[in-house]
Parts: sequence; C-alpha cells; structure tokens
Amino acid sequence: MLSREEYIRLSLEINLFFQRIMKEHLFFIETSLPPVEADKIAEARSLKESFEHLLSETVYYANGAISDEAIKANEFVTPQTLDAENISSRLTGASIDSMITRRELQLVSDPNFNYGERLERIVCDLNNRSINMVSEVIAFKKKLIDLSLKCRIFIALYVDLLEHITREAMYYREALKNLQNRKLPDKTLCDKLNFWNTIMGEHAQFIDGLLDPTEKELKDTAQAFAKKFHRLVKECMKPAEKQVLERSLDATEAIRDYKRAATIGSLACEIRSIFLPLLADHVLREANHYLRLLNKLSG
Ligand SMILES: [Fe+2]
Ligand SMILES: [Fe+2]
Repeated sequence: MLSREEYIRLSLEINLFFQRIMKEHLFFIETSLPPVEADKIAEARSLKESFEHLLSETVYYANGAISDEAIKANEFVTPQTLDAENISSRLTGASIDSMITRRELQLVSDPNFNYGERLERIVCDLNNRSINMVSEVIAFKKKLIDLSLKCRIFIALYVDLLEHITREAMYYREALKNLQNRKLPDKTLCDKLNFWNTIMGEHAQFIDGLLDPTEKELKDTAQAFAKKFHRLVKECMKPAEKQVLERSLDATEAIRDYKRAATIGSLACEIRSIFLPLLADHVLREANHYLRLLNKLSG
C-alpha cells in the first residue's frame, strides 16, 4: 500500500514522463499520414492536444512535489527538447506547445513539500482522466495498425513502430491503474527488464531503418545495439537476473550516449535520415527513464 506522499509523487512523475510520450506519438502519427487521410490527421491532432492539456496540468501540480532524482534523470525534458520541438514543428507545420517545455525546464523538487489531501484528490482525478485518454489513444493506434496491415492506409511509420508505441501506451495505462489501487505493478525483475530491453532493441532497429543508407557507421552501431538487447531479453531467467540487470545498465548507458549524439547530430543537420530531431530526443528520454529504473533496481 502506497502512502499518500508516494501515491502523489509517483503519479505526477509517471504522468510527466508518459503524457509527453503520448502527445509526441500523436505528433509523429499526425506528421506521417498523407493529405488524403485528413480525418485521421485531425484525430491525431485532437488527441495530441488533449494530452498537452493534461501535461500542462501535471506540470502545474508537479512543481515541488517530484523527486530531485527524477528531475535530474532528463526523462521529462532534455537540454535538447526545446530545439528539437521547434525544428520538428517548423519542418512539418504541425503544432507543439513549447510553453509546456519551458515550464518543465523550471521544475524543482522541494524537500519540505506538503502532500495534502486536496492534492491527493486532484491527482486521483488527473490519473482517471489520463486512463480514459490513453484508452482512446490505444484504440486509435490499434485502428491504424489494422488499416495499415490491410493496406487501406499509407503511413510513413513501420507497423512494428505502431505496435511499439501501442505497447508503451498499454504499459502507461497499467501503471496508472496500479497507482489508482495504491500499489506498484506486481512484476518479476525479468518482466521489468524484458519490457524495456525490448523497447531499447526496437529503437535501435527503427533508427537503423530511418537512417540514410550512406550512414554506414551509425547503422552498424544501431544493428549491434539491436542484437545486444535482443540477447539480453533471451537470456533473462531467474538465476541470471542480477547479471542481466548489470549488463542492461551498461547497454542502456551506451545506447543513451548514442541517442544523445544522434539527437545533437540531427539538430545540427549533420546526419542524413528520415527521422525528425524530436523522434531522436523522444527515444533518448525513454532511455533516460529506463536508466533511472535500472539504477533503482540495482541500488
Ligand atoms: Fe515512445
Ligand atoms: Fe519507444
């Protein structure tokens, strides 16, 4: 059973991380559909804006309430997020509320914060609304997967990537439902590692597939990461879990550095690719989030 303080703090942290992740998935969908899909573009935009409203509220209530380690992990925003948003919005014509990002960069942790009953009720309501919104997003993503598999829409996102972002949304919803029951997910160490190691391996595959064929060195590194994370998933079994945890930490630090370099290179127009700088920054934040979890698990 989580205490009121834990419930409030963990809820705000998970929402800060995932509400941004959700709105960016919708931005990627919005900007990857052709003009003929005007209704789906509008649907993606409207869901994106709903998540921006939720995130804006979360940022307001999170100030002071969240932990210093969460802020320092660079999982909510990185030093590159604002530039990545500005460039990605300009290149696509799709809107991004960067005021939220500016406010997130100012977030602080207050060791004397008062986790009162009123805030508990506000957070409970915020979680419920997030569960409803993320359910809509999951349904939308599943619809796109279905249409894409039947070749009834064209979308410049791999089906594998659509499935990946659907799994992230389902993970977020499950985390919220557990919080609403005042508990943490009941998962084994290998369950936790396998979820995120699969995500990291898929990021490597997506980056490999979105880089220009001439970016040989970057593509080779991406392929090596994909293999490494795939092996970690295959080898995670109860007797070896501690060892897999240590190796996951090393591999995730390495892919974090690679993604950061890709984000900075993409912003400086030094990499040939068909991904937006915001996608590079997005997967960088997911690595940063996983690293905080790994450090907690091994601590
Ligand atoms: Fe994502
Ligand atoms: Fe991801």
